[in-house]
Amino acid sequence: CETDKVQKYLEPFRLSLEKLQEVSVRLRKDMKRGLGKHTHHKAPVKMLPTFVRATPDGTEQGDFLALDLGGTNFRVLHVRISEEEKKVIKMDSQICAIPQEIMLGPGVQLFDHIAACLSEFLDSQNLKGQTLPLGFTFSFPCEQKEIDKSILIRWTKGFNCSGVEGEDVVKLLKEAIQRRGDYNIGSVAMVNDTVGTMMSCGYRDQSCEIGMIIGTGTNACYMEEMKNVKRVEGEDGRMCINTEWGGFGDDGALSDIHTQADKEVDKTSINPGVHIFEKMISGMYLGEIVRLVLLDLTKEKLLFKGEVSEALTTPGKFETKFISEIEEPDNGLENAKKILTELDLKWNLVDARVVRLVCDTISSRSARLCAAALATIAKRICDNRGLEHLKTTVGVDGTVYRKHPNFSDELQEVVHLLAPKCEIKFLVSEDGSGKGAAMVTAVAQRPATKELGQ
Ligand code: GLC
Repeated sequence: CETDKVQKYLEPFRLSLEKLQEVSVRLRKDMKRGLGKHTHHKAPVKMLPTFVRATPDGTEQGDFLALDLGGTNFRVLHVRISEEEKKVIKMDSQICAIPQEIMLGPGVQLFDHIAACLSEFLDSQNLKGQTLPLGFTFSFPCEQKEIDKSILIRWTKGFNCSGVEGEDVVKLLKEAIQRRGDYNIGSVAMVNDTVGTMMSCGYRDQSCEIGMIIGTGTNACYMEEMKNVKRVEGEDGRMCINTEWGGFGDDGALSDIHTQADKEVDKTSINPGVHIFEKMISGMYLGEIVRLVLLDLTKEKLLFKGEVSEALTTPGKFETKFISEIEEPDNGLENAKKILTELDLKWNLVDARVVRLVCDTISSRSARLCAAALATIAKRICDNRGLEHLKTTVGVDGTVYRKHPNFSDELQEVVHLLAPKCEIKFLVSEDGSGKGAAMVTAVAQRPATKELGQ
């Protein structure tokens, strides 16, 4: 019958625990390749040193500026870390839109725009006379040379400004500020959003050593032993590694689970061939995968009596947020009906149910793949330290994780099955990209402050 045919069609999207284990083993190898001195340049999982060598210890303090670029919005923030209150306080913040033509235009224009937003914010806060340190959450893969030298490897998530790849982002920012000449900033710390997320949770929970984002894009970072970070000098202590796990599969490592719909999403993206894992998981792509599956099922006459609508054939029309709405436990079916009507589809009750099944299958695959990747990291930390049992905390953020009704439950359940020896607590970050960036900046200043005191 029809439902069997739909189930059969969805089969390639269902990943068994055995398959997830296999995926995890492949990622484990790729993480090793990324860390290796002679293997990293070709590694799809880049394992980038972040020059963050410690998580917060509670002595951090001061006023900071933070910039946050690479998530849903561009933001400018003024953050205070108060040692007495053991609190990170967002004093104020402002969202600045980044129009599409700037996202795809020359880099100089992007940085002039950022510098202008910062200027406006400093005016509104009466901060222009001060020279505050600045944490820049820049959520793209960067080769960091130091905490304040960060070279963009490539744009992801719909950004594509010319003249930035291969350049030092801190230099571009400072040059834009100099061109204006109406304010100064202090030292700069470059922060990936995963790192900000880990650090903002680290202030509340000192065993937070992993940061994970499942939002527009997906990625994670964790504390690695320095002796394994072959590209940075020194053997002692730890350093946070930005895995850039979104690039997993870029060498074909995931070809056995890469479906026709995934291939189509990749082909029509701004960056075909790269960030294959991310494109199977994150918010920028999930809606589009669902749309392509629905379109195919319609063409197979398994949905909407075989009749497509213009919306269903238009890329981007099925938004990722629809998936969460349709999967809501109580109102999901009602929401599905409303959304299908808005997409000009002639649906019946069976269609609405099938659409819900498709959404569930795609979001569940995403959660399970994230679980496989997270389990790989947790197991690595456990092995690194020669532990039988690891107790650790993951700081998490991102719209998919936060907004989807059962994503986090499924993720946690599957991680537990895949890494039974790791006891993992999940802590949703409170503004990791803002407060966390300030925290990274504060921790980066910590040794210097201590030295002064000696
Ligand atoms: C993309 C970026 C990565 C970021 C992630 C989540 O994968 O390459 O740097 O952390 O999105 O925003």
